[in-house]
Amino acid sequence: MEFFSFLLFFFLSIFHLSQAQQTYLDNQQLDCYNNVSFTKGYICNGPKKSCNSYLTFRSTPLYDSPISIAYFLSSNPSIIAQINDIPDVYIKIPENTQIIVPVTCSCSGKFYQHNTSYTLKDDSENYYTLANNTYQGLSTCQALIDQNKYDSRNLSVDLKLLVPLRCACPTRNQTNSGVKFLLTYLPVWEDTVSQIGVMFGVDAGSINEANGLSYDSVIYPFTPLLVPLKREPTKIRPSTDAPVSPGPTTTIVRVEKTKSSNKRVIFIAAGTGAGLLLLALSGFLVWFLCLRSQPCKPVLLPEVNKRVAVPEENPGSVSSQGVRNGNIESLTLYKFEELQKATGFFSEAHRIKGSVYRGAINGDTAAIKRMRGDVSNEINILKQINHSHVIRLSGFCVHEGNTYLVYEFAENGSLREWLHEKKYSSTSSCLGWRKRIQIAYEVADGLNYLHSHAYTNPPFIHKDLKSSNILLDGNFRAKIANFGLARTVENLDEGGLQMTKHVVGTHGYMAPEYLENGVVTQKLDVFTFGVVMLELLSGREAASGDEKRGEMLLSASIEQALEGENVREKLIGFFDPSLRHDYPLDLAFSMAQLAKNCVAHDLNSRPTMPEVFLYLSKILSSSLDWDP
Ligand SMILES: *[C@@H]1O[C@H](CO)[C@@H](O)[C@H](O)[C@H]1NC(C)=O
Ligand SMILES: *[C@@H]1O[C@H](CO)[C@@H](O)[C@H](O)[C@H]1NC(C)=O
Ligand SMILES: *[C@@H]1O[C@H](CO)[C@@H](O)[C@H](O)[C@H]1NC(C)=O
Ligand SMILES: *[C@@H]1O[C@H](CO)[C@@H](O)[C@H](O)[C@H]1NC(C)=O
Ligand SMILES: *[C@@H]1O[C@H](CO)[C@@H](O)[C@H](O)[C@H]1NC(C)=O
Repeated sequence: MEFFSFLLFFFLSIFHLSQAQQTYLDNQQLDCYNNVSFTKGYICNGPKKSCNSYLTFRSTPLYDSPISIAYFLSSNPSIIAQINDIPDVYIKIPENTQIIVPVTCSCSGKFYQHNTSYTLKDDSENYYTLANNTYQGLSTCQALIDQNKYDSRNLSVDLKLLVPLRCACPTRNQTNSGVKFLLTYLPVWEDTVSQIGVMFGVDAGSINEANGLSYDSVIYPFTPLLVPLKREPTKIRPSTDAPVSPGPTTTIVRVEKTKSSNKRVIFIAAGTGAGLLLLALSGFLVWFLCLRSQPCKPVLLPEVNKRVAVPEENPGSVSSQGVRNGNIESLTLYKFEELQKATGFFSEAHRIKGSVYRGAINGDTAAIKRMRGDVSNEINILKQINHSHVIRLSGFCVHEGNTYLVYEFAENGSLREWLHEKKYSSTSSCLGWRKRIQIAYEVADGLNYLHSHAYTNPPFIHKDLKSSNILLDGNFRAKIANFGLARTVENLDEGGLQMTKHVVGTHGYMAPEYLENGVVTQKLDVFTFGVVMLELLSGREAASGDEKRGEMLLSASIEQALEGENVREKLIGFFDPSLRHDYPLDLAFSMAQLAKNCVAHDLNSRPTMPEVFLYLSKILSSSLDWDP
């Protein structure tokens, strides 16, 4: 404690901490065995426990496309592409380009962080190189040591590490002055605070304040700097076209490269107990050098890199359509007469199903759904969403206690009709393997968007995904529909869960924790999505059987198919016979395995939607290469 207060005093005297929102790392992260708490993360000092935030990352030969960067940093490839003006998620980015990466930042105990994971690939990797080199300073060795159980001498190839990336949510003061996001910026040589300010259109003073810097502080490369933003960032242009604004707040990164930053390290070390530091550092170096002298194992590329290479011959073929361009359109308030005219007075000939009618509005076909009661939930959610794999709500009309919702029209009806209803069962119109994978991929894209990156708004949970809520348009593009039960994650607890007593949903799709305890998390949608994948693979219903023979849940049957002996035969028996064995068995197996993980009983063993999405994009690109 004494040590700590000494440190506090020490920093108070260097920086004007009284105004600080967060403390600048100031190269403290270089000494992996110090005990300075701010090296472990930015402290949770804002009103929000979780928020959207951004990181910058410089592309490297290994991480050189939106999809590989997204995989590496647990972000969303389509949104990376969108923010950085990259036409497609597979496009190779020139080396060393600064890319803006959107992430969700949450408070886990004392510190804000964004979790990602990394599997060690090489004997020369350790906590320090991982934080400083691989993650370019977005994490620190102190945070890695703190949150991974492995001793630093015990790291080996193939160990999977949790990597907490530095991010923060705005403080109340920042929110009051209009700040919406904090971006973790990695300065490069010769950056100045005022240039960084110009780059993001913010005042240099606010950057200084956000980091507890004073006008004459020195900032370092590979050391993150928080930039408070009032709106979402856009592509970073190379600094040559950013004019330097004159002013008193210019803080210059030392240009004399390592020499000056070494000087700085030693200076700080003298202040924090040089003995301890030098001991730790030299021990570290000895160990580091020893490891280095061992013969190198071949570097294993992460899975994703193999995948990234595939679509290059095939550009655009698996592009995620992602977020639609342009602003979210406002909803039209229709007149009842307009809808009557469009649907021939809601005639039987226009009825699609239940209370859904087809109608022509301004020359476009639309689906018009009559609903009773309060439908504000669905309207409020859909009006904020603009994604090509989520059904678009164009407007609504309230008339005599009914609300009529007007949606984009999906010509091919629901996925359920294609898989389970005899309507389309002639073999010529059966959904083939590629179409099925494409549909799974698109639904995952839409769900992933809802979960992580409904960016200006809190993320959503759909809660009622099923094959009848997945619609197919004229080109078999999937659209997630029916947001009647959807909700935002905003008012979930810190742990990201919520309890409800009022369990509603569809039999066969409900996750066990929800069914049994009313626990609501985003993993609920991962489970239902797993069931949908199983429907796509097997052509069977989510729940089948009868009272006499007992009921069979699809989510339970995959377990049996993948366990024990003769897995291959059992799986072939599990797959939809109407596919007529016309599928690549290895990919079908991967997909079954993925679906099984999604329907895991324990919600913590289910993957997250971004993980599912990236995995599916790999299966999809391999499926496109597959020649039946
Ligand atoms: C917040 O702003 C008020 C007034 O502008 C100031 O007095 C206070 O010190 C600020 N708090 C922090 C933590 O910066
Ligand atoms: C680091 O600090 C914490 C509390 O401030 C203390 O409990 C812990 O023993 C310290 N660790 C070392 C290695 O000094
Ligand atoms: C990130 O990882 C930490 C474990 O170090 C955990 O406590 C926290 O809940 C995780 N955060 C999220 C959002 O999963
Ligand atoms: C830290 O990482 C950067 C690249 O991110 C590298 O240029 C620099 O040499 C590294 N520093 C050390 C001490 O390894
Ligand atoms: C290193 O790993 C071995 C085997 O996994 C374990 O027995 C040992 O205790 C570990 N050492 C440290 C210092 O954690």
